[in-house]
Amino acid sequence: MARLFSFLALASVALQAVAQSQYLLGLGIADITGPVVEVNFMGYANLPQTGSGLHQRQRARAWIIGETGATANRVVFVNADIAMGDTGIRRAILAALSAKYGNLYNAQNVAISSTHQHSGVGGYLENLLPQLTALGFVKQTYDAIVTGVVLAIDRAHASLQPGTLTLGNATVTGGNINRSPTAYLANPAEERALYVNEGGDQDKIMSLLSFGSRGFLSWFPVHGTSIYENNTLVSTDNKGMAAYLYEGKFGLSSSVEPNAMPGSQTFVAGFAQANVGDTSPNTLGAFCESPGQPYDGQPCQANSSTCGGTVTDCHGRGPGFTLDSFGFHSNEMIAQIQVDAAKSLMSKSLAPVSGSVRSVHINLNMANHTFNLPNGTAAKTCPPAMGFSFAGGTTDGPGAFDFVQGDNSTSQNPLWEIVKSFITPIPSSEQKACHAPKPILLNTGYATFPYSWSPSTVDIQMFKVGNLVMIIVPGELTTMAGRRLRNAVRARLISEKVIDDSAYVVVTGPANTYGHYITTREEYSHQRYEGASTIFGPSTLDAYIEKYSSLVPFLADSPSGSPQTDPAPPQLQSSAISLLTGVVLDAAPIGKSFGQVLVDVAKTAYKAGDTVVAQFVGANPRNNLHLEGTFLSVDHLSGSSWTAVRSDSHPSTLYKWNRTSTILGTSTVNVSWTIESGTPAGTYRLRYFGDSKPLIGSISAFTGTSGNFTVA
Ligand SMILES: *[C@@H]1O[C@H](CO)[C@@H](O)[C@H](O)[C@H]1NC(C)=O
Ligand SMILES: *[C@@H]1O[C@H](CO)[C@@H](O)[C@H](O)[C@H]1NC(C)=O
Ligand SMILES: *[C@@H]1O[C@H](CO)[C@@H](O)[C@H](O)[C@H]1NC(C)=O
Ligand SMILES: *[C@@H]1O[C@H](CO)[C@@H](O)[C@H](O)[C@H]1NC(C)=O
Ligand SMILES: *[C@@H]1O[C@H](CO)[C@@H](O)[C@H](O)[C@H]1NC(C)=O
Ligand SMILES: *[C@@H]1O[C@H](CO)[C@@H](O)[C@H](O)[C@H]1NC(C)=O
Ligand SMILES: *[C@@H]1O[C@H](CO)[C@@H](O)[C@H](O)[C@H]1NC(C)=O
Ligand SMILES: *[C@@H]1O[C@H](CO)[C@@H](O)[C@H](O)[C@H]1NC(C)=O
Ligand SMILES: *[C@@H]1O[C@H](CO)[C@@H](O)[C@H](O)[C@H]1NC(C)=O
Repeated sequence: MARLFSFLALASVALQAVAQSQYLLGLGIADITGPVVEVNFMGYANLPQTGSGLHQRQRARAWIIGETGATANRVVFVNADIAMGDTGIRRAILAALSAKYGNLYNAQNVAISSTHQHSGVGGYLENLLPQLTALGFVKQTYDAIVTGVVLAIDRAHASLQPGTLTLGNATVTGGNINRSPTAYLANPAEERALYVNEGGDQDKIMSLLSFGSRGFLSWFPVHGTSIYENNTLVSTDNKGMAAYLYEGKFGLSSSVEPNAMPGSQTFVAGFAQANVGDTSPNTLGAFCESPGQPYDGQPCQANSSTCGGTVTDCHGRGPGFTLDSFGFHSNEMIAQIQVDAAKSLMSKSLAPVSGSVRSVHINLNMANHTFNLPNGTAAKTCPPAMGFSFAGGTTDGPGAFDFVQGDNSTSQNPLWEIVKSFITPIPSSEQKACHAPKPILLNTGYATFPYSWSPSTVDIQMFKVGNLVMIIVPGELTTMAGRRLRNAVRARLISEKVIDDSAYVVVTGPANTYGHYITTREEYSHQRYEGASTIFGPSTLDAYIEKYSSLVPFLADSPSGSPQTDPAPPQLQSSAISLLTGVVLDAAPIGKSFGQVLVDVAKTAYKAGDTVVAQFVGANPRNNLHLEGTFLSVDHLSGSSWTAVRSDSHPSTLYKWNRTSTILGTSTVNVSWTIESGTPAGTYRLRYFGDSKPLIGSISAFTGTSGNFTVA
């Protein structure tokens, strides 16, 4: 009897353990690439960085995790190859999901996070400031992102099936450095001492949630600025490249269907962003590119990131600097470092994840938010404002004016002194005092003409999956800011008994809303770029720590009540200004036709390492984005038929568009392929897929085909 009893007890423990670690899992991927030409890129805010073609398509990847019993308890995490999450984008995605799935996927359990890449199409953000260089709102970009994210979630939903999750972490070496180390040094010495063996001024840990043979989701902080601001081909930077490399090489279907085009594998590799604020992939450091000056090639001034007194010549260098003109080599190297870390984690047996799935979300108005600091002192955030060092930019993308970082003075540029009062209202003494010691350059919180320049209301969200908690952050936390937030939330999870001391906390973002940067109070006093871009003032981080911590009880298995929330921010899209003109017409030069070869491949025989290029009579790619498709192919002759073996998402291929006459509407397209070593010998050709728009009538598709060539 006793034996039977203990056998039953053991069996029930075993059953419970199995039942607890089963989740309903879905993974999906979709194309979100907006118009690849004539639109400014999002990230560097550099007007000349306007698209001229495509290096790699941008994608959204989605992971759904649900409890197997209660279908309502699900979370959807989206990692998109965009510069930052956005309120308007998120609102449109939620509306589309609600139309399809009712309340299953909603504001509480869907997170739209970004890889924070800086070489993607811009113009999609709701607030005015980040739209400025894109000439306002670009509906085509916005639609591509919304439709693609919804498609990725649809695919994840369609793939839902039971499975298990495991969790682990690994140290990543050589993948990031701190680009504002002098600000980091402002943090208390005793606090910094806690992290000397954990990367010091950078977090070096990659955390990874494994979905077994179906994919994974990882977090590691490094800016998406491997590709420089002088590149004008749409790409994904190091996180998107890492996902491409992993999915193509190690993903399940890479062995099942070796010729699957990028983005069509079923394995989904997630390289998500973490406390990215002060990180840089430019691991060699920042140097002066000042030809003819004595300091040319020297490291920049450390505290101000200047060369000869200005920021414009100071550029960070990635690990592939000597090989690079646009950062593509460095990009692959930083991607590969992340791929290797993920691969090593995926080949180990990691800790099983078990426990409930929960989510919590509120809107928080960060202008004038009052709360108490841990020491009991009352504190307050401020309506948004950008400091002077914001215009100084960073060593990853220096500013265009002669502002410098780490400077408190208010009169560095007399032109800006005049212009800024026209474009944003002069700050009140109350606003100045609230942001001190930040000198205000753009008083964006009071700039509502023609519509809000910066968001005031942000999304505060957390997901719990067993013992893993994701803090989904509406901005870019610096390294130390991220640690403080993680530590505070973890301590609260344990003290509230929501999770035992196995609680594992990650921060991820910029997600949902773009609330710019979040530094520690001490870093803020230093006013480098990150401090100047901490838009809600010196108490920004403390306000977030207090708010996220207070929401921890709502992640409990049986939470009581629901949290207080501020009203959702107003919808601005309907009043958005768009100055970008549409495509007027495309024409082929007299005597020529669309897709006709203008300059054919130069030779009939090539070898690995060569670049083969053909130029065609082109048309504007804004006529058809070829979402889920491609603007080009490299075809291989097998028997008597051609098979596409490369698309425009392979980094070995480039699609370049050039407007040759605005008046006549003529343009050219170059399709090129740098032949990878290991490419099978045989006969190949290049193809171009275009769409032309006549002055009157509808857009029509055409194809261009190069001459045949062989690869030995
Ligand atoms: C990484 O994983 C190890 C082993 O599971 C764990 O002891 C450690 O606390 C983790 N590191 C962090 C930063 O959480
Ligand atoms: C692009 O910018 C990088 C960083 O400033 C520079 O090193 C490189 O020479 C530039 N490339 C070209 C083609 O101008
Ligand atoms: C914040 O407070 C200031 C001063 O009291 C007021 O002018 C402003 O409208 C408030 N902003 C918000 C978003 O509540
Ligand atoms: C509480 O902490 C804040 C921020 O660190 C500090 O400015 C303030 O002086 C502290 N108040 C007390 C009473 O210690
Ligand atoms: C900026 O102002 C703060 C507070 O007044 C001060 O502590 C800091 O040293 C100043 N920084 C510089 C670079 O002048
Ligand atoms: C930066 O440091 C240099 C040398 O230590 C000093 O001369 C300069 O004034 C500092 N600049 C700023 C903006 O603090
Ligand atoms: C684009 O075409 C124009 C006009 O034919 C030509 O001057 C220019 O060099 C071309 N640009 C590139 C990048 O090929
Ligand atoms: C496009 O291809 C033509 C022909 O090979 C070449 O002359 C031209 O430089 C290329 N343009 C660009 C922008 O690569
Ligand atoms: C290219 O090869 C294909 C298949 O052998 C053949 O049909 C076609 O005529 C060739 N094209 C040229 C321009 O030689």
